[in-house]
Amino acid sequence: MKNIENPKVPLDMGAEEFREQGHMLVDKIADFLEDLGERNVHTPEAAKTAHEALGTGCLPSGGTKASEVIAEISDLLMEQSLFNGHPRFWGYVNGSASPIGALGDLLGSSINANVCTWTVAPVASEIERQAVDWIGDLLNFPNDPSCNSGGILVSGGTMANITGLLAARRARFGPEVRTKGLCQGDASKAKFYATSETHAWLEKALDIMGFGEDAIHRVASNDDFQMDIGDLKRCIDGDLKQGYLPFAVIASAGTVSTGAIDPLNDISRICKQNNMWFHIDGAYGAVAACVPEMLGELSGIGLADSVAMDAHKWLYVPFEAGCVLLRNREHLTDAFAHETTYYPPTGGENSLPIAYRDQGIQTSRGFRALKVWMCLKTAGKDGYASMIGNNIRLAERLYANIKKMPELEAISQGLSIVTFRYNPGDIKDDSQLNQLNKEILIMLQAEGWAYPSHANVDGKYLIRVCITNFRTTDQDVDGLPQKVITIGNNLS
Ligand SMILES: Cc1ncc(COP(=O)(O)O)c(C=O)c1O
Repeated sequence: MKNIENPKVPLDMGAEEFREQGHMLVDKIADFLEDLGERNVHTPEAAKTAHEALGTGCLPSGGTKASEVIAEISDLLMEQSLFNGHPRFWGYVNGSASPIGALGDLLGSSINANVCTWTVAPVASEIERQAVDWIGDLLNFPNDPSCNSGGILVSGGTMANITGLLAARRARFGPEVRTKGLCQGDASKAKFYATSETHAWLEKALDIMGFGEDAIHRVASNDDFQMDIGDLKRCIDGDLKQGYLPFAVIASAGTVSTGAIDPLNDISRICKQNNMWFHIDGAYGAVAACVPEMLGELSGIGLADSVAMDAHKWLYVPFEAGCVLLRNREHLTDAFAHETTYYPPTGGENSLPIAYRDQGIQTSRGFRALKVWMCLKTAGKDGYASMIGNNIRLAERLYANIKKMPELEAISQGLSIVTFRYNPGDIKDDSQLNQLNKEILIMLQAEGWAYPSHANVDGKYLIRVCITNFRTTDQDVDGLPQKVITIGNNLS
């Protein structure tokens, strides 16, 4: 019922108020971004401070003025967050989010397209189609009409990988797998080949897809943490003899711990010989294919049946944005399309826009394509080659510096990931070194100057730096080795 006394709807905002609040917030964000590098990357007590600031009370019955809401929450966020856009944030694989991506989020939310069917999101669907095509260009994924490639944006790498494998499952086991599940045919005998360096999304995927984690056959890695091709062949042959169905090889284009790239061309050949699906997890490293010096090692991306990548990692797009590319995009439609009585039929008379609800798991879908598209358009191919290439150069520089320090042991450098540990030479026991390096990392993170994370490699606890950050400079990486040595010397 219309409230005549107070016609103002609580969540509506007049144009004047929106302009005023929006300008204030944008000014505040601009100041925050300007001095991001002067702050500590991390405040150790942040979760406790946030808990106390937010409290545990019930939702108040009365509302609060928008200006107060914005001031309260932006202050808390800008003071207490862990800043993964800080020039010295190098933990996990988190991209630094570009400001144009943040503006894309604002614009996208204002239009609020539901990129579910092209009828309700005609422009947004076309923007997503182009963003996906452009990602394919960056990866050198075949994009000519003859091979009918295509893909979809999803929330991140895990979902991109799962979406690719669901398409593979339907392609291999036919339409019955969607009606009868895995209880028919050969599906229960399927085997997936991956090294232990593969990210844990794979266990999650096979669990929720119904194959079960035991369907993974672990292939040995070589000294450079890449899949050992000889062992892959042995695993496949052995499984065939035992009556299993070698179904897919899951290769990594940039492993999460060390940035290793599996031998993609060799894997493609083996997949072809054995009629297997070739999937690449390129969530972290696939976009490095746009850097001319990296193209050789990553040229095999174009041979895959499906590739997962993450725009919120090395395309510097704000969370969340991942993408899966299929060599034949019909496999997505086959795996996910459902006719309903309440949505318009897919394609219809207008064959141009894609109905994205038929290409993936989600029905209602946000307009994440806009921020991806705006980042891609702003940087262009050369811009990405320069930013990603510079991150790799910084990793090489850091690795070379670490090698010069007698107190440090350089372990690996792959793409923009460096692993190393403090090892003054007089500690012979690995478990003691592991404990010491754990403590060094905790202190380093707590100090707030930089934020690397860790890796466990061959039983060694290592400090791990992953530079997917367009703000990091030579000076930033040059300061790290001495920081680690100083903390290590104080602790040991
Ligand atoms: C190689 C690799 N694959 C998959 C993932 C999972 O991606 P997301 O966290 O976006 O789901 C990650 C995350 O770091 C990764 O590094």
